Amino acid sequence: MPLRSILSGTEAPRQTLRRGASRCLAPERRGYTPGVTTTDRPTGLDAAQSDGLLDMDPEAFRAAAHDVVDLMADYLASVERFAVFPNVEPGEIAPAFPRTAPEMPEPIGAILDDYRRLVEPNATHWQHPGFLAYFGTTASGPGILGEMLTAALGQNAMLWRTSPIATELEGVVVGWLREAVGLPPAFDGLITDTASMSSLIALAGAREAAGGDVGAMRVYASEEAHSSIEKACMTLGLGRDALVRIETNDRFELQADALAAAISNDRADGRRPIAVVATVGTTSSTSVDPVAAIADVAEREGLWLHVDAAYAGAVAIAPELREPFRGWERADSVVINPHKWLFTPLDASLLLTRRMETLRAAFSLVPEYLRTLDRETPVRDYNEYTPVLGRRFRALKLWIQLRWFGLEGLRRRIRHHLELAASFAAWVDADPDWERLAPVPFSTVCFRFRPVGAAADDEALDTMNAAIIDAVNRTGEVFLSHTRLRGGFTIRLAVGNLRTEERHVARAWELMRAAAAEINE
Ligand SMILES: Cc1ncc(COP(=O)(O)O)c(C=O)c1O
Repeated sequence: MPLRSILSGTEAPRQTLRRGASRCLAPERRGYTPGVTTTDRPTGLDAAQSDGLLDMDPEAFRAAAHDVVDLMADYLASVERFAVFPNVEPGEIAPAFPRTAPEMPEPIGAILDDYRRLVEPNATHWQHPGFLAYFGTTASGPGILGEMLTAALGQNAMLWRTSPIATELEGVVVGWLREAVGLPPAFDGLITDTASMSSLIALAGAREAAGGDVGAMRVYASEEAHSSIEKACMTLGLGRDALVRIETNDRFELQADALAAAISNDRADGRRPIAVVATVGTTSSTSVDPVAAIADVAEREGLWLHVDAAYAGAVAIAPELREPFRGWERADSVVINPHKWLFTPLDASLLLTRRMETLRAAFSLVPEYLRTLDRETPVRDYNEYTPVLGRRFRALKLWIQLRWFGLEGLRRRIRHHLELAASFAAWVDADPDWERLAPVPFSTVCFRFRPVGAAADDEALDTMNAAIIDAVNRTGEVFLSHTRLRGGFTIRLAVGNLRTEERHVARAWELMRAAAAEINE
């Protein structure tokens, strides 16, 4: 199918959404009035808005909440009507909003109208089944219900005393997830916002355990490790140079002998190795570092071993799929993001560690106003294990979600994603004009167009593949992202969205081949 016909909308009706007069947002063109900016009192306000001193009236809240739930259900039911990535250019959205906050209250109906008109269409639709970029973050239905209840309860899980339920349910859910992924009871942990924060906390533990001057400390990770590891080194005062990037093999896996050599060279030069990060499921290609061999090195050298399984860790809930994780039970800490492949609304990152007390030593700072004086039993105050004080009640949505899906339901969906990715990889492999650029241990396929017989040099291939992904993303039907592997432009298709079906993956392939044919004409 020629790309022209795809782009003209004959094959893809949604394309008309992206090309017509409704492109972006100028409010006048959409036939409604942007937010109120005058000091005139608008009509349709309720009493609490007109002269109240308290919150929204509970009955007004109930009515508005029902409307919001309808909005949410409508959105989820028809998310495919949107282009996955909106047809906007940077800077086009902000001018559609008033420059200053409204002086006077506005009716909730008008606000929700504007939400529908200004917010929804300008979102990148992570909930769209055609979202195949980065690593998917789906907000599942039960997870969204959990977020709603979390907001209503308004807990702050900084101290046991500021939320006994958030504190104790966090312990329960951490235990459930720890057991679900097959790690031993020696692992305790906590829920943070992101893997970036979890890894930062883990490396703070490593710094704490090592003690002494940070100046010469060194952390080791593969050249494919996530940028959050380098950021953690920056933030912890170790400096960017503290991260030693170890070379990978042709499968993008850290080489344990190169790691051992780097550590011994650094020791010989007077540096202080403190930690190794092994990644199971790297961000670019989802490669799997040899965790057991790395654990041997870490043990021998007395280093903290942190396993970054932010994306792939969810797979370990299926016992028959645990081979890539072999050895992670020997780690000091492990991060898994439920907000990636366990379909939990952003944010939820699980940090598991055998060394809770070391994390506490790294972060505990208890001023008088945070001390619990009225309890005999020692309490766990989770803020003592993190650099932040205020904490969301993230355990609630996880508890609701784990019960609604059951581990079996989650396993079924993850296995399905693995099958979809395997099918896609097989299509790429079967087409001589396309080339797979990395193994597919999980649900992400790295590939590029490389037409048979074309004397394309690397630069020309890069340009062509960048054009393909751009053309495909502009259809609005699917959304993919890219990376570079060994310097070469690489298209990534990552299956991880809860709503993705085989037809979406098949459509992505169809669009890609059409774009390639058009570009290569
Ligand atoms: C392997 C890996 N680690 C860490 C992260 C960072 O995750 P977060 O956005 O939760 O900080 C990512 C993000 O994709 C990742 O792929």
